[in-house]
Amino acid sequence: MKLLFLLSLVCCYSIGNAETQKSLSYWNFNVLDYGARANGITDDSKAFMAAWKAACAAVGVVKLHIPAGTYLIGPTKFAGPCKNVHSLTVNMKGYLKATTDLSQYVTGDDWVEFAWVDKLILTGGGTFDGQGAVSWPYNKCPTNKHCKVLPTSVKFVATSNTLVQNIKSLNSKFFHIALVGCKNFWGKNIQITAPSNSPNTDGIHIERSTGVTIYNSVIGTGDDCISIGHSNSEILLSGISCGPGHGISIGSLGRYHNEGDVRGLVIKDSTLAGTSNGVRIKTWENSPGTSKAVNMTFENIVMNSVANPIIIDQMYCPYSSCASDAPSGVILSDIFFRNIRGTSTTPVAVTLRCSRGVPCKNVNLQDVNLKYVGQLPATASCMNVKASYSGTQIPPPCR
Ligand SMILES: *[C@@H]1O[C@H](CO)[C@@H](O)[C@H](O)[C@H]1NC(C)=O
Repeated sequence: MKLLFLLSLVCCYSIGNAETQKSLSYWNFNVLDYGARANGITDDSKAFMAAWKAACAAVGVVKLHIPAGTYLIGPTKFAGPCKNVHSLTVNMKGYLKATTDLSQYVTGDDWVEFAWVDKLILTGGGTFDGQGAVSWPYNKCPTNKHCKVLPTSVKFVATSNTLVQNIKSLNSKFFHIALVGCKNFWGKNIQITAPSNSPNTDGIHIERSTGVTIYNSVIGTGDDCISIGHSNSEILLSGISCGPGHGISIGSLGRYHNEGDVRGLVIKDSTLAGTSNGVRIKTWENSPGTSKAVNMTFENIVMNSVANPIIIDQMYCPYSSCASDAPSGVILSDIFFRNIRGTSTTPVAVTLRCSRGVPCKNVNLQDVNLKYVGQLPATASCMNVKASYSGTQIPPPCR
């Protein structure tokens, strides 16, 4: 009886397997077959979109190849849904150069956008070169609240089950990579580079997304290495090397109406070097609504010459002045800083500046060892918060 049962298991498992394999077909598409010239001069956007259209319409396991070579690309949308695709791999070995003619980007256009795709894999070692240096002088956002936003280099909109690995982004015009409304996203071995003075070149911006993991990635840029906007949950960042840049930020939050909450965030095993902030939570005053950012853990993080290694700032104002009639309405709670060590280039190594309207709740610091690089001992500064402390505390806790 037992033997028969085992036999039947073996039989049916292998038949099942054979059937799945038989039912999947494999398809390869190549942008060169759709007219891409790869000479770095002729605009290859149309060829890319034609190749994508064919790949997206295929049935089975699909690969879209972008072979080595330099491709000049204008604003390009890779849109789904790709209904009969089992998985779609974009094997990008090529070097993509963004057009520098800003008139080609209609308002709101980004450079390369992937939208409404399930099971997308973007890999291959290729580079997205935003050629941002030409447009950075046109970016007025660091000083003007009502500025025109430049195109993001690579944007993922409402994708699910996405894997991005072994991809480089260079000199984006605005953000390098942005995720909006994505579900289950894995980013691995992503390399992001722009000069430290390039404006708003956030490395990876995450918004309205759930289940995002970014690991083993190297980010050096002019703004936040990673910024986590509103309405995000289950975000894990691990093995991130950040610098130069403004550090890893939650926020800014509380600027707009109807912002959703941020919850379930872990940032760990990472290094920040030469950045203006380490781990930062920033929220605006005068928030038009209320929202929450809760359950956030920062652990095993090394700071090398960071100006503000640990900072909560609920009076965030990037301009010379901001209206401050009302305190920030963003509720911050259940925040854990564990094993954060290294050096601060300013004497105030820990800043917990919470809202007088909604003081921070359940803020915990455990084993913090941050030394000021100068002669003085490092200090901490606190407002509207009673944090809990355990283990090593350098600087000493606020009183
Ligand atoms: C806090 O977030 C972590 C990571 O997303 C999650 O595993 C955990 O369940 C959350 N805890 C609570 C109390 O929600």
